[in-house]
Amino acid sequence: TGSKPLQISMEELKKHDKPNDAWIAIRGYVFNITRYIEYHPGGESELMRGAGKDATSLFEEVHRWVNFESMLKSTFIGTLIQELPSRT
Ligand code: HEM
Repeated sequence: TGSKPLQISMEELKKHDKPNDAWIAIRGYVFNITRYIEYHPGGESELMRGAGKDATSLFEEVHRWVNFESMLKSTFIGTLIQELPSRT
């Protein structure tokens, strides 16, 4: 917090999918939700469904009206790098 916003890749985001190290991406913003987990009204297991992921669509499905930008302001890390789909 307070430092420069980072540009975060999906590869990096994926590493942070554990309750003691949880990041989440919503609408292009990445937050460290580790400290928030215990306060989530929907519980830990629900919130953890979005950990380490771009959880935008999941978030929109459950409660698109929740003001996460304001609630998670102090846990903001940076923005998700929008990657083009890879052709393999
Ligand atoms: C409530 C799931 C992320 C804030 C809930 C509830 C569910 C849920 C199922 C309803 C609980 C109940 O009514 O008993 C999820 C899932 C998430 C997620 C699957 C993964 C993306 C977040 C985030 C925030 C948040 C990132 C904000 C920082 C809230 C709030 C409520 C709530 C404020 C209570 C208000 C309401 O239901 O309108 N969540 N949540 N949630 N969640 Fe989440």
